[in-house]
This record gives sequence, structure tokens and C-alpha cells, in this order.
Amino acid sequence: MFSLSQLVFVGAAASAIAAHVPRASSCTGTISSLSDVSSAQKCATVNINGFTVPGGSGFTLSLVDGATVNLNGDVLFGNKSWAGPLFTISGKDITFNGNGHKFDGGGPFYWDGQGSNGGTTKPRPMMKIKISGTFDNVKVVNSPAQTFSVSNPAALTISKITIDNSQGDKANSQSDGNPAGHNTDGFDVSTTDLTIENSTIRNQDDCIAINKGSNIVFKGNTCSGGHGISIGSVKDDATVSGITISGNTITNNDQALRIKTYNTATGSSVSDVTYSGNTATGCKRFGVIIDQSYPDTLGTPGTGVKISDVNFVGSTNSISVGSSAQRVAVNCGKGSCTGTWDWSALKVSGGKAGPITNFSGIKNFSQ
Ligand SMILES: *[C@@H]1O[C@H](CO)[C@@H](O)[C@H](O)[C@H]1NC(C)=O
Ligand SMILES: *[C@@H]1O[C@H](CO)[C@@H](O)[C@H](O)[C@H]1NC(C)=O
Ligand SMILES: *[C@@H]1O[C@H](CO)[C@@H](O)[C@H](O)[C@H]1NC(C)=O
Repeated sequence: MFSLSQLVFVGAAASAIAAHVPRASSCTGTISSLSDVSSAQKCATVNINGFTVPGGSGFTLSLVDGATVNLNGDVLFGNKSWAGPLFTISGKDITFNGNGHKFDGGGPFYWDGQGSNGGTTKPRPMMKIKISGTFDNVKVVNSPAQTFSVSNPAALTISKITIDNSQGDKANSQSDGNPAGHNTDGFDVSTTDLTIENSTIRNQDDCIAINKGSNIVFKGNTCSGGHGISIGSVKDDATVSGITISGNTITNNDQALRIKTYNTATGSSVSDVTYSGNTATGCKRFGVIIDQSYPDTLGTPGTGVKISDVNFVGSTNSISVGSSAQRVAVNCGKGSCTGTWDWSALKVSGGKAGPITNFSGIKNFSQ
């Protein structure tokens, strides 16, 4: 017979192992309200039915390794001014099947034209993704401010996402005549080993903003109405490397492709960036802009972010800009853009030429 102390010991050892290596038990958990989450998230399969999350609460899923999640209905978030995030998902080796269902952030309730710069406190980001594995086939509409923030613990592929903040294009009674949606970034990314593909982003800010990280692929996506595909804004002590931006369609954005680094940033670098087969039309301000003077535009550049190996190669990048836009602008600090950049697969038409300052390493391109 076991004594009580042996039983306690065996139990403690087992739970220590369980805590070290979370294991999916074979159950199926079903979530139809927040009160179902704590037991359902222990299961290997988690089914989410449509429900409304009460305003002021987040929906947080902390999954066991290897879990599969099926979204079987739409999730709406109640309206209340608070900091968020609205949805957070974490776990390793997760398969998330959105099945085309949607998350609705209630954006029009919060939108005041100021985004995260002021006004109403807005829950943000709307979707905080901290899984490895796959996250697929989800619609996300009306994000109060920033939509996705991604910080995956190992390789993650996000695909077939539709972000639709188009209702934020119009002014409302709070927005002083400006578009009501603001800072509605599609994806904010500071991570490694991430692919985002085959997704559609309709918003009022960056389609994707890669702030730091490596081995990031953004391909086959469509970006409309926002600020284009951005690396940055790069701040202090950030490394960005191994970025591939390919086969994207960029329609009616301020600019198609941008690298922006803070004029005050120090100790940072951006290297090994490849643009291939991207198509843009209706660029309002620039086709391609690499600017080290952020938050100014083409102001006095900083020198604390070294930029190297930015190449347009492979399939042609075909970019058409509006009549008052500039085709290509490169504004480097003295000595902070280095090496030779191959821009042989860049064709930009329309508008007028932009300035290229403090850098002579661009080859196989003239505008
Ligand atoms: C939140 O408010 C917005 C607009 O004011 C509305 O479209 C949305 O349906 C509301 N959400 C809920 C869950 O009631
Ligand atoms: C993305 O679309 C391409 C082209 O249709 C397809 O080959 C690829 O498998 C898709 N990726 C995912 C993750 O579904
Ligand atoms: C070149 O870079 C220096 C140092 O960052 C800056 O002061 C200067 O304005 C830049 N030159 C031009 C023409 O932009």
C-alpha cells in the first residue's frame, strides 16, 4: 500500500512533468462562452462556436502542444473602451482552422480618427498571435486600432486571412472629417520564422510593419487602401534580416514598398531584403521609399541604422504611381546605407522621379 506521502510525491512528480511538457489529452473541448475556456483549452481539439465576448474582457486561449482549433462560428467582441488585446492565442505546433468565420472587433464604436495616438482608449492589438504551426482562413473585421500582432515561438504560417477595416475609410462624428479608422495596421511583426501568405488586407495604415526579426516571408497577399508593405519603423537595437516580399498586389496605398527607420535610432540594422514579383497601382505618395528620417518624411536622416543588401530581383516588381507621386525616394544618413544593391527587377512608372541622397550603391536601375 502507498502511504499518503508517497501518493503526494507521485502526484507532484507527475504534475511537474506535465507542466514541463504540456500534453494534449484526447478530449474535445467546446467553447460557447468565456466560462468554457479554462477546461476546453486543456484538450487536443478545441471547437469554438459563435459567441459574443463581453465588452472589457479578452478571449485568451492558452493551448496544449499540438492542439487543433476549429472556429465554427463568428466571434464578436462587446463594445467597451479598454486596453485589450481582444483575442490572444498561445501554444506550440497548433493548427488553427478558421473555416472562413470571423472575428468582429466593433471598430466603429471606437473609431475617432486618432487610432492609438489619442482619443478613446482602444483595445489593441485586436489579435495577438503567439503560436507556432498554422493559422488559416479567418476573417477579421473592424479592428479598433492595430489588427494582428505576431510573436511566434517557432515557425508559423498564417494564410488566407481577410482583414477588412473598409468601414473606417469614412469620417464619422468623432473624426473631424478624417477617416474614422486610424493606425489599423494589418500585421505588426517582431519575430523570426514567419510566413504570411494569400491574405487580403483592407485598412488605413501599414499592410504589414516588420519592426524586427529574421526569416520573414510576406507573399501572395493583397493590400488595399493603406500605407503599403513596410519594414519598420525600426527603432533602437533592432536587427531586421532575411526578409522576402514577393508576389503581392498593392492597390491605392500611400506607397507600395517602404523601409522606414527612426532618425534617432541607434545600434540597428536592416539587411538581406528581397523584393520580387510585386505589383502596385495607384500609389498616392511614393512607389518605393527608403527613408531614415522617420517620423519625418524625407527630412534629415539619422545614421544609427545600417541598411544593406536591399534587392529587387527575380520576377519584375511592376509599380505604377499617381501623377503627383514620386517614383523612388531613398534618403540615407551619411554612410548608413552600404554595399551594392541590385534593382534590376524594379520597373516604376507614372508620377515624377524622387531624390536619392547619400547613397550611390543602387545598380541596374534608373528612374
Ligand atoms: C459595437 O458597436 C458597433 C458600432 O457602434 C456595432 O457595429 C457593433 O455591432 C457593436 N458590437 C456589439 C457586439 O454589439
Ligand atoms: C497560397 O496560394 C498559392 C497559390 O495558389 C498556393 O500554391 C499555396 O499553397 C497557398 N498557401 C497556403 C498556405 O495555402
Ligand atoms: C546626408 O546625411 C547627413 C547625415 O545624416 C545629413 O545631415 C544630410 O542632410 C544628408 N544629405 C542629404 C543631401 O540628404
